[in-house]
Amino acid sequence: MLPSPHILVTGGAGYIGSHTVLVLLQSGFDVTVIDNLSNSSDESLSRVARLAGKSPRFVKADIRERGQLSAVFAERPVSAVIHFAGLKAVGESVRVPLRYYDNNVVGTLRLCEAMAEHGVFTLVFSSSATVYGDPATVPISEDQPLGTPTNPYGRSKLMIEQLLTDLAASDARWKVALLRYFNPVGAHESGLIGEDPNGIPNNLLPYIAQVAGGKLRELSVWGNDYPTPDGTGVRDYIHVVDLAEGHLCALNALQTRPGVGIWNLGTGRGYSVFDMLQAFEAASGKTIPYRLAPRRSGDIAMCFADPSRAERELGWRASRGLQAMMEDTWRWQSRNPNGYRSSTAG
Ligand code: NAD
Ligand code: UFG
Repeated sequence: MLPSPHILVTGGAGYIGSHTVLVLLQSGFDVTVIDNLSNSSDESLSRVARLAGKSPRFVKADIRERGQLSAVFAERPVSAVIHFAGLKAVGESVRVPLRYYDNNVVGTLRLCEAMAEHGVFTLVFSSSATVYGDPATVPISEDQPLGTPTNPYGRSKLMIEQLLTDLAASDARWKVALLRYFNPVGAHESGLIGEDPNGIPNNLLPYIAQVAGGKLRELSVWGNDYPTPDGTGVRDYIHVVDLAEGHLCALNALQTRPGVGIWNLGTGRGYSVFDMLQAFEAASGKTIPYRLAPRRSGDIAMCFADPSRAERELGWRASRGLQAMMEDTWRWQSRNPNGYRSSTAG
């Protein structure tokens, strides 16, 4: 019998990474995770192992450390890399930009060097809709010109896209997927794995969930004077398990597709802040107190995907709707009020 393909997942202990590791294990892949746990806990991987009935291999290391990275590649042949490792807090990236360029851009550069040294040329990268900046029109297709991200985090994603495109142009062995995520939300339906933000959440749904759970007092709705149907910001929220499945489809597509492929991973539907608030209240049975507050700097009015290329070329489309996103978020939050530091999920 042939050995199972072996996938290296950087940042695999994190939010999107852990859900993707689960999908990979359930699909018969062998998985090694490399993560420095700077924004996660290896408890996520213990729970993934419980759900999958088998464990990923875990290496606690930083992707910028050449020696550690090289040792991982040398130990067992790697078929492909899915690269989630990176820092993602927009506000922090404005305060400490070098940390973001070093971790995200230099980290990716070191990873690509190690891959090439060990003859591994298949890479799936976590990009973001932030590379479109403030889009001229919605829905956003991949052909839309790239915008100007408003912060160092967003610029680091754009730089990495350019770095990987240059690399693939220089050597035909590279097969690269640039996956532009819209707004990942939700959790695995088991309630065992989910998003565990450090400190006060920046993003809408984890914030709402913590208000519902009594950890935060009220939601601030940042701006109700946008040119949108109810005046609040509109985004394309995508269930994290749909997103995880998109990585598997991208891996499959890369088998027969050289060069760089760019795919939006979104649902194609936009929901406002008030839509999200109401849907969460319905799913949780909780009332979410809120107040209207001024616009948040750097925010855009409206952002949602045209996901048709991913459907056409990857055979992928999001199947989980708003209700599942809300119910799964609430199950995760209510069973793990302190994230992976909780012990009630057992
Ligand atoms: P996350 O913080 O939960 O996961 C990232 C993981 O990478 C963490 O476990 C962290 O410990 C690890 N990590 C960071 N730097 C590392 C390094 N130098 N070496 C090894 N490990 C390192 O974030 P997430 O939400 O799962 O996001 C995963 C990827 O998707 C990130 O690259 C992020 O920028 C991108 N992305 C996320 C969103 C989102 O809204 N969550 C949207 C678009 C793109
Ligand atoms: N919002 C609030 N109150 C909050 C949090 C958010 O009203 O407490 C609003 C925002 O103003 C926005 C919407 O909810 O209209 C969504 O905000 P998020 O912070 O959840 O998501 P963003 O679309 O602003 O940001 C996300 C990622 C970024 C990425 C960006 C563009 O978090 O990393 O998408 O792709 F850069």
